[in-house]
Amino acid sequence: MTTRVPTTRRYLMCPPRFFAVDYAINPWMDPTQPVSAERAMTQWRELRDTYRRLGHTVEEIEPQPGLPDMVFAANSGTVIDGRVLGARFRAPQRAAEAEHFRRWFTEHGYREVVMPSYVNEAEGDFAWTGRMLLAGTGFRTDPAAHAEAQEVLGVPVLSLRLTDPRYYHLDTALFVLSEATDTTPAHIAYYPEAFSAGSRRVLARLFPDAVLATAADAECFGLNGVSDGRNVVLPLEATDLAERLVVRGYEPVLVDISELRKAGGGPKCCTLEIRK
Ligand code: ARG
Repeated sequence: MTTRVPTTRRYLMCPPRFFAVDYAINPWMDPTQPVSAERAMTQWRELRDTYRRLGHTVEEIEPQPGLPDMVFAANSGTVIDGRVLGARFRAPQRAAEAEHFRRWFTEHGYREVVMPSYVNEAEGDFAWTGRMLLAGTGFRTDPAAHAEAQEVLGVPVLSLRLTDPRYYHLDTALFVLSEATDTTPAHIAYYPEAFSAGSRRVLARLFPDAVLATAADAECFGLNGVSDGRNVVLPLEATDLAERLVVRGYEPVLVDISELRKAGGGPKCCTLEIRK
């Protein structure tokens, strides 16, 4: 079995102090159902502490009143080699989040921060393989934002089409298990049924070795995982996926994200990766 080697990561997260489900901008959100900001905070802290226990660095951005989805930091920036491409949200309810994150990056020494001209929900729809940026469209990020990301970040961008409204962001249907190195290709997990027929064929060609997830894995946000190349943080219900990952040499690390899922998010949505 392959020995999987973790690499140390740096993440930006936002505590869910003002967490709520006050509006519905994806099929998981039901404003008539009760949510507990307190429980969301407990689950979020557990996630943050899990990363720290695994040896990763977690930075925190100050949450803002009136922005209940700000906990989903992954949607607010794509950082590769220290270059930052900010966000432009599709829903007006989330628009103001982009500026808070832009400010965080400029105040933390990032000199190349570009704000996008097209709807761009950042790592919600962008997944870095170490060689290229896989880019989702269909529900949130504008396909024109894919070309813009390629220009700004200077990395090849590959467009993929999402077709199931429950899997409205790429990071609800696909994630990178280990990045490509000079000698090994990138390894990913995904749920084929979330993609158009053409995109499925592209994924099968590019990643013949991928771990395929079941419908049950997708429904609990199992594809919203965060991997450091060895340890894979997953919602605890993603049992089929966890078993398949063990067979492939990974170490599943299970977390409870049941409260955050009421807003349509999981571990990855809460986690923006800062690549230098
Ligand atoms: N309620 C948020 C929205 O619909 C959830 C975002 C989840 N984030 C993610 N990366 N999938 O925008």
